[in-house]
Amino acid sequence: MRKKIVAGNWKMNKAFDEGKSLTSEIVNIYKDEVKDDVTAVICPPYIHLHSLAGIIGNTTNVFLGAQNCNDHESGAYTGEISVDMLKSVCATFVIIGHSERREYFGETDEFLAKKVDTTLKAGLTPIFCCGEPLEIREKGAHFEFVTQQLTNSLFHLSADEMKKLVIAYEPIWAIGTGKTASAEQAQEMHAKIRAHLSGKFGDDVAESISILYGGSCKPSNANEIFAGKDVDGGLIGGASLKARDFIDIIKSF
Ligand code: 13P
Repeated sequence: MRKKIVAGNWKMNKAFDEGKSLTSEIVNIYKDEVKDDVTAVICPPYIHLHSLAGIIGNTTNVFLGAQNCNDHESGAYTGEISVDMLKSVCATFVIIGHSERREYFGETDEFLAKKVDTTLKAGLTPIFCCGEPLEIREKGAHFEFVTQQLTNSLFHLSADEMKKLVIAYEPIWAIGTGKTASAEQAQEMHAKIRAHLSGKFGDDVAESISILYGGSCKPSNANEIFAGKDVDGGLIGGASLKARDFIDIIKSF
């Protein structure tokens, strides 16, 4: 059985007090309403991680993730955050290669391969993001584009390493636009991703990897999207900033 995971990517939102309130609310409602079989991951801005870890405590199946990390283990990289620092504040997941980092911070497939290595070496779980821009989808080149991203950043890994990853498919045209991929479009891409991983790492590995969908996912469409047999959860932006919506998405399984 693959893990069902719903991760909330807060992006650059929520000041400290707001972040604490949101996390308390999520944890309280999660405990009351959610069956433990869906893993929730909260990915706040770095500076909140330590305090939010205290709020989450040992709540079963609620975890903390970072939105990014540096590709080096330590050193003279002013302003950066290392994987060991993330571990020391109880983060267990790290989002790698979000399209906003690729677009605004120039992160390339090759550079992301290094971040994946650094993350795995530290024992953290990368949530590796892939996804095509609108013009690629309109040209009908989306499968090729996404599978190439995976090849470039992940195909140097061993099967054992690959098993430790979570993949998030986030079509860029659906992020923050209110325009979600249809359930069919999501399932079809997820199946392609799994087949591509299977071709390199074998069926056992491909079948064990959770593939999340991201892009304008909300309580009203999560149920339909999560019904796809290769859709194992979601990476949620805007809707993760409201506890009720985030939990309702988790409960859509
Ligand atoms: P939205 O859910 O706001 O479209 O964002 C998706 C996303 O980028 C999550 O990483």
